[in-house]
Amino acid sequence: MFAQYIRYLKNRPQLHYKRDLVTKMQNIRNRLMQVLNVCRLCNSVKSCVVRPLPCYFSSTSTMAKSKFDYVRNFEVDDTCLRNCYIVVRLDGRNFHKFSEQHKFTKPNDNRAVGLMTRSARSVMEELEDIIIAYGQSDEFSFVFKRTSNWFKRRASKLMTHVASQFSSSFVFYWKEFFGEQPLLYPPGFDGRVVLYPSNRNLKDYLSWRQADCHINNLYNTVFWTLVQKGKLTTAQAEDRLKGTIAADKNEILFSEFDINYNKEPAIYRKGTTLIWEKHDETVTKQTNGLTVERRDKCVTRSRRIVQAHHCDIIGEEFWQQRSNILEDDGC
Ligand code: GTP
Ligand code: MG
Repeated sequence: MFAQYIRYLKNRPQLHYKRDLVTKMQNIRNRLMQVLNVCRLCNSVKSCVVRPLPCYFSSTSTMAKSKFDYVRNFEVDDTCLRNCYIVVRLDGRNFHKFSEQHKFTKPNDNRAVGLMTRSARSVMEELEDIIIAYGQSDEFSFVFKRTSNWFKRRASKLMTHVASQFSSSFVFYWKEFFGEQPLLYPPGFDGRVVLYPSNRNLKDYLSWRQADCHINNLYNTVFWTLVQKGKLTTAQAEDRLKGTIAADKNEILFSEFDINYNKEPAIYRKGTTLIWEKHDETVTKQTNGLTVERRDKCVTRSRRIVQAHHCDIIGEEFWQQRSNILEDDGC
């Protein structure tokens, strides 16, 4: 049949692209001949050699595939609702134990905080559409812009990419922060996705995390001061703090240990907020010296970099000064 068609094409000079068509048909014919030959060969050896081989060259493979195709329908649609901020929050798995085993200083370990921030920076730099991230203790939240269409807004894809990029960075940069102290086992981070439909909701979410940072850090600061400087046992310190409110804790620190909590490093009190900022960078370029003399030229260009802040994000001031982070929605 192919031979007939090729002959037919050759005898029709008026046909456009005739030569191309003839070549294509000849190629298809040659390919089919090859397949046929292999099939013949397989059939002749079928009885004494392997049985499944011929199925690669028959339609049964296609039929078999379609037989299994239905399993695709078990996948559920996890597309994030449009027009919402997508927040991915990661949290260290069993970091109570991890921090003990790696001798984190109490209540805060500078190396650990630095490594968490470095890993979060890597997430922002490597993944698209993250406008702001906030971290404290063993957690970090990443906010994707409302209009993001990254990975078709599929929650599982977004979350797993954030978690894996963060975890691998945590291991990759470990030495940069902990030097020769070895990483004893691979750390893990769980992740969750939460959607926030308005600027107000998103700001309240971030405020909630920062308030959590404040409560935990105030407690930990007093607790470990009572233990380290007040020489109380951990059980005694726990007892002492039972039923106290923030003002009581501030008072213990101030009157008994001469510590003004508000003067403690902001990085511990406020956590870390990462945002994109424009940064002017001056580089030296060499001019091409074919007609003019070769010489260095200073060029200034603007680059976006991830900048860390340790300030209050509960009040409006932070947002007013950086109105470009969130698109105005009147809420
Ligand atoms: P899961 O998250 O449920 O797996 O438990 P977890 O043990 O990670 O507890 P959680 O996330 O609630 O709290 C984090 C823990 O990490 C804290 O309770 C501390 O024990 C520890 N941690 C985080 N940052 C530091 C730090 O800078 N210094 C010290 N010493 N410990 C820290
Ligand atoms: Mg944890």
